[in-house]
Amino acid sequence: MDATPAASPAPTQTRTPVTVTITGAGGQIGYALLFRIAAGDMLGPDQPIRLRLLEIPQGMRAAEGAALELQDCAFPLLRDVEVTDDAAVAFAGANRALLVGSRPRAAGMERSDLLAANAGIFAPQGAAIAANAAADVRVLTVGNPANTNALIAAAAADGIPSERFSALTRLDHDRAVGQLSAALDVGPAALQGVTIWGNHSATQFPDVAHATVDGAPVLAALAEKLGGADAATTWLDDVFIPRVARRGAEIIEVRGSSSVASAANAAIAHVRDEALGTGPGWTSAALVSRGEYGVPEGIVCSFPVTSDGSGYRVVEGLHLDERAQARLQASVAELVAEREAVRELTGA
Ligand code: NAD
Ligand code: LMR
Repeated sequence: MDATPAASPAPTQTRTPVTVTITGAGGQIGYALLFRIAAGDMLGPDQPIRLRLLEIPQGMRAAEGAALELQDCAFPLLRDVEVTDDAAVAFAGANRALLVGSRPRAAGMERSDLLAANAGIFAPQGAAIAANAAADVRVLTVGNPANTNALIAAAAADGIPSERFSALTRLDHDRAVGQLSAALDVGPAALQGVTIWGNHSATQFPDVAHATVDGAPVLAALAEKLGGADAATTWLDDVFIPRVARRGAEIIEVRGSSSVASAANAAIAHVRDEALGTGPGWTSAALVSRGEYGVPEGIVCSFPVTSDGSGYRVVEGLHLDERAQARLQASVAELVAEREAVRELTGA
């Protein structure tokens, strides 16, 4: 037997730290993100990290308090933490940026109602990223309306390829998997091939047409469980799709404020799969469209995506029937209207 040890990655001490910038780090999602990132949940158990926390002056004390707690955890991977209200400092040398800082919606609002309050944040941050971040920077937008805020940031980030920008729809994806898992009484790991198409909004299209459970079509499994193909279609149209698409509002109604831990978990999963690879199957993320599936070029739309560790790419060639096309087009129409509403910020 060959006793030569397999090539292993560089030991933790010799790896170059990755600089991760988190905006809105003093807020709710920030607090749920920081400790898991520092523990290695996002970039792996061998990857040292430097954290840069950006806040506005009102949020500085909360972010500084989180930094004290990070120090008290003595995370082996955490090299240092800097808290600042200066975007140039926060994004200096950033390899990864998570744009969380922005207002959450309250009960009765749609996420697009936040455009007026939040859109103005993302152009200056895109410009600050372009001017200060590392050459390999990748940017995830979490702050709502996430797709259009990503569009604004990407448009302002002169010189950074737009494929480095994405928006979070992994939470919707995981919500869809959670609903299917409960309906079919299987563990989430048995499910593959779920897709969120469109906007991170009530118009999104959670699609199970290509999904499998333990390798068999989900549609057949639902028909068997619910008493026929028509019953499965009715459940998908009347229960599953609206439940996933309106889950954010349901959380706000039940909790009294918008999702936090599940959003942070989804952001970590999004970056982890982008950086370390999706493995078999695909996940969902909102990327700048290159015209895939007839989606107009330039809008930030959720697609099925894979990554081999070098960035997300859209899974092409899936068949969408007429009803699926109509649902996708309805969400795309909303994204086009949002782009129109922020035209002066994007120049598009
Ligand atoms: P929060 O109010 O608890 O925290 C937001 C933080 O951002 C605050 O500390 C605030 O001071 C800071 N901030 C505001 N403007 C800033 C700026 N210009 N630069 C840096 N920091 C700034 O809100 P939260 O619960 O953490 O939610 C943050 C955002 O994430 C909201 O827009 C929310 O709607 C969105 N969200 C998105 C998803 C998703 O799936 N895409 C899920 C959940 C929440
Ligand atoms: C969510 O989906 O939970 C977030 O986008 C928060 C919200 O406003 O719904």
